[in-house]
Amino acid sequence: MTTSINELRDLGLLNVDYPEDLRETVERAVASWKTFCQLPREEKCAFSFLEDNHGDGAGYELKEEKGSKKDLKENFHVTLFQYARLSEIANNRTFPFLNDAKMLLDRMEPLILEFAKTIEEEYSINGLLDEVQRCKPYWILRYLHYFGDQQEGCEIAAPHADKGGFTLHLFESDEGLQYYCIKQRSWKAMPVEEKQTVIIPAVQLQLWSKGDLKALYHRVVATEKTARIGRFSMVCFIPFQNIPMYNKKVYGNMQTHDIGFNYNLSHKEFANLFS
Ligand SMILES: [Fe+2]
Repeated sequence: MTTSINELRDLGLLNVDYPEDLRETVERAVASWKTFCQLPREEKCAFSFLEDNHGDGAGYELKEEKGSKKDLKENFHVTLFQYARLSEIANNRTFPFLNDAKMLLDRMEPLILEFAKTIEEEYSINGLLDEVQRCKPYWILRYLHYFGDQQEGCEIAAPHADKGGFTLHLFESDEGLQYYCIKQRSWKAMPVEEKQTVIIPAVQLQLWSKGDLKALYHRVVATEKTARIGRFSMVCFIPFQNIPMYNKKVYGNMQTHDIGFNYNLSHKEFANLFS
């Protein structure tokens, strides 16, 4: 992994070369997600979303906010932990969606583990590689489809930091994904492309690194094109199992905090959000 020691700390994200075979697998997985999205609503909703205690949950969610055109999206989480349950719902249906998801989780593994090893060594986060390896059943492959018919320039995903350990960005059908630069405190385009992609720290990595690495704030803004026709994207969340979870019940959704609120907090103040 080509990284300078301070790249992740200074930029807030790590650019990684996108292995060609992984990119091909991602494109196949996106194609089968698009096919899935065309299924009748009842068939999609049959893959009910089930929360678990390992980071979030798995299954299909349709999010419609009445009276607003914001947050109109559908998403699907696949984890190996809930793979048998989801396969049972799929029964003998022939669409390749779940198979493609499983193959993708395997194909991503070398990149994820290499990242964990590099970060463990460069930032002295002892045990990170072991933790990431052991939590593979809980890695969350998240497929997203934002519907069109929105306002150009509106935030279709409100600014937030991710709640797990770190996030690998796998696919963006269009421009519009932005991150809040730690140094310049302004929005910049997230470089997710065919030959390069990014890994960003989430809140558990900020906690484990004692604030050395910051959970990167990001958002999605509708472009002229995606406002009309919608957008597809895919990420993989790596939630740590042996590090406390952010206490959402007490401190609210990440979207309720000020943008980049965590960039200036002391480690002690930040750690309070996990109790
Ligand atoms: Fe996110």
